[in-house]
Amino acid sequence: MTNESSKKAVLSLDGKQIDLPILSGTLGPDVIDVKDVLTSEYFTFDPGFMATASCESKITFIDGDKGILLHRGYPIDQLAEQANYLEVAYLLLKGELPNSTQKAEFEHLVSTHTMVHDQLRKFFEGFRRDAHPMAVMCGVVGALSAFYHDGLDVSDPKHGEITAIRLIAKIPTLAAMSYKYTSGQPFMYPRNDLNYAENFLYMMFATPADVDYKVNPVLAKAMDRIFILHADHEQNASTSTVRMAGSTGANPYACIAAGIAALWGPAHGGANEAVLKMLDEIGTVENVAAFMEKVKTKEVKLMGFGHRVYKNFDPRAKVMKQTCDEVLAALGINDPQLTLALELERIALSDPYFIERKLYPNVDFYSGIILKAIGIPTSMFTVIFALARTVGWISHWLEMHSAPYKIARPRQLYTGSPQRDFTPEKDRK
Ligand code: CMC
Repeated sequence: MTNESSKKAVLSLDGKQIDLPILSGTLGPDVIDVKDVLTSEYFTFDPGFMATASCESKITFIDGDKGILLHRGYPIDQLAEQANYLEVAYLLLKGELPNSTQKAEFEHLVSTHTMVHDQLRKFFEGFRRDAHPMAVMCGVVGALSAFYHDGLDVSDPKHGEITAIRLIAKIPTLAAMSYKYTSGQPFMYPRNDLNYAENFLYMMFATPADVDYKVNPVLAKAMDRIFILHADHEQNASTSTVRMAGSTGANPYACIAAGIAALWGPAHGGANEAVLKMLDEIGTVENVAAFMEKVKTKEVKLMGFGHRVYKNFDPRAKVMKQTCDEVLAALGINDPQLTLALELERIALSDPYFIERKLYPNVDFYSGIILKAIGIPTSMFTVIFALARTVGWISHWLEMHSAPYKIARPRQLYTGSPQRDFTPEKDRK
C-alpha cells in the first residue's frame, strides 16, 4: 500500500502554488504525485521515463545504487542458491513461496500444460528456415491468442491464473520448437517426468534417433539458475510494454508477444547475443586495447556493460559469474572467449571512462558464455531470456488486472509545424 506522506512538494506556476502529494512505498524513494499537474495545462516531460514511476507494484524491488534486487522481498542471490525456477515463478505470481504441497501441485499443473495445440506447428512452417528465432517467437506466442481468445475474460482472476500456467508451461516448448525449426530437426514433444529446466534441454537437444539421450544435471541446474536470474526485473522496457498493451484490455498472449518484441533489442534482452558477437569481432586478447579505444570514442558500445538502474554492480551478474565458473569447470571447458571477456572486464573496471560513468558488467555479460558452453546457439540467447521473463511479464499483467487501472497514454511535447491551412495549389508544388 502507498502512504501519503505529511510532506508536500510545492510547484509554483503562473503565480499559483500547487501542492503535490508525496507518496511512500515500502522501500525506495518517495514519489511526487503529479497527476493533478494536468489540470494546470502543463504536462511533465521525462523522455525514457528516467524519473517516472509508471505504476504501483508489489512484485520486485531494485536499489540500483546498492545493487539490491528483491522478489517479493527475497534477495535474488538467496533465491538463486536455494530455490528452483518454478518456486520463484510461484513466488512472483502469488506473493509467497510455495509449501511442499503447493509446490507439488504447481509443478504438476505446469508439467501437464506443456504441449501446444498441434495446429500451432503450421505457424512454424510459414517462417523461412533462417528466420531469427526471436522473430518466430513474436509470431507463435502472438498466435497463442488465436487459440485462447473467445471466452477469455481478462477481468476474471481464474482466467488470469490459467493463462499464467499455460504461458509458463508452453513457452519452453515454443522456444525449443523455434530452435528445432531453424535447425531442421524434428520437434521433440515435452516430457512430464522431467523438471522444468531438464525438459527444456531435452526438447532442445534430444532427437528421435538418440533414444538414450540424458540431460546433464550440471547443465540443467545452470539452466534453471539462468531462468531464475532473468525471471523479473520490475518496470523494464519489455515489462512496461506488456503492462501498456495490457492496459487496453488486449488478449494476454498478444501482450506477452509485445513484451517479446521489446525484449529483442540489443539495449535490452538482445545484449547477451551482442556480447558474443562482440567477443567474436574482437577475436583475441591482443585486440582488446584497440577495441576499448573505439568504445571510448563512442564508435561502439561495450555490450554487457552498463544498466539503466544498476550503477554499482548488477547482483545478478555476481551469481551468473559464479554459475559460469561452475559450468566451465564441470564441462572441463577452457573457453578462449571467457579469457577475452575477463580481460575486457579487468580493463573496464579499472578504466576512468567506465568508473566515471558507473558502468559495470550486467547479467548478460556472463550468461552468453554459459549458454554457449551448454550448447545453445547465439541466436537463441534472447529466446532463453524471453522464456524466463514470461513469468515476470504475466505476474505484472495479473497485478495490473487485480485492481482498477487506466489505459496507458503518455502525452508529448509537440515540436512540429504549427496549424496551417491546406492550399492544394501551393502545398502540392
Ligand atoms: N559501453 C560504453 N559506454 C556506455 C555503455 C556501454 N555499454 N553504456 C553506457 N555508456 C555510456 C554512454 O555513452 C554515456 O556516456 P556519456 O555520458 O559520455 O554520454 C553514459 O555511459 C551513460 O549512458 P546512457 O546511455 O545514458 O545510460 P542508459 O541508462 O540510458 O543506458 C543501457 C543503459 C543498458 C541501455 C546502456 O548501458 C547499454 O546500451 N549497455 C549495453 C547493452 C547492454 O548490455 N544491455 C543489457 C542491459 S541488462 C539486461 C536487461 O536488464 O535488459
